[in-house]
Amino acid sequence: MLQMRQLSRVYQADMIETTALDAIDLDVAAGEFVAIMGPSGCGKSTLLNLIGMLDRPSGGSYLFDGQEVAGLGEAALAAVRKANLGFIFQSFNLIDELTVRENVELALLYHDVPASERRRRAEQVMDRVGIAHRARHRPSQLSGGQQQRVAVARALVAEPKLILADEPTGNLDTSHGEEVMRMLQSLNAQGATIVMVTHSPAHADYAGRVVNMLDGRILQQRRRAA
Ligand SMILES: Nc1ncnc2c1ncn2[C@@H]1O[C@H](COP(=O)(O)OP(=O)(O)OP(=O)(O)O)[C@@H](O)[C@H]1O
Ligand SMILES: [Mg+2]
Repeated sequence: MLQMRQLSRVYQADMIETTALDAIDLDVAAGEFVAIMGPSGCGKSTLLNLIGMLDRPSGGSYLFDGQEVAGLGEAALAAVRKANLGFIFQSFNLIDELTVRENVELALLYHDVPASERRRRAEQVMDRVGIAHRARHRPSQLSGGQQQRVAVARALVAEPKLILADEPTGNLDTSHGEEVMRMLQSLNAQGATIVMVTHSPAHADYAGRVVNMLDGRILQQRRRAA
């Protein structure tokens, strides 16, 4: 599904150059569940943002479904993102002026999906993550685990091929964290490809492959025995 070759990202700020990613090679096949681990500042979020086309590489090649991403303009990138990607962030980024259902439906607003269909799909995905009974609440009226489930529902409602999660359990207690992990695992079993950044070895164990990073490079990759 994606293939990165010698991909790098250098940040320039006030005469200081930071090499956040240093000539990375990474392949992710359709259907994989990959965990990215490594110490703070090693480039995990930078890598995830590049995979998600939220940021542009400074050099190297990135093929998504065989198409070179590096050369695409903003509009083309947005179209690829919209058609393929779902994001789950550590901070849930929910809008408290909207209800749970409206937050989930919002993700379909730019997809040319009619209102009735938006509603149906939102109901379906809220059911799946076990939040349907809170559809009319505001995010601030929910527990942290429930809010994260809304964020997962929002990431899923457009049925993305690739789910990108940056420390999706970072703000959750142990049991809610495991709940989110089980949810990701079952999505993966149903065919979604997942790339997840995590600091938790226990959560990395849910993935089929663990990629360890250090100082902008990939140190080693470990595939779990099936
Ligand atoms: N916008 C930016 N401008 C300059 N440097 C940046 C910028 N964003 C990140 N960096 C630098 O790039 C490096 C990698 O950052 P990144 O956010 O990818 O780390 P991370 O592995 O996700 O860390 P954490 O586990 O703390 O989230 C760091 O040294 C960071 O200081
Ligand atoms: Mg990070």
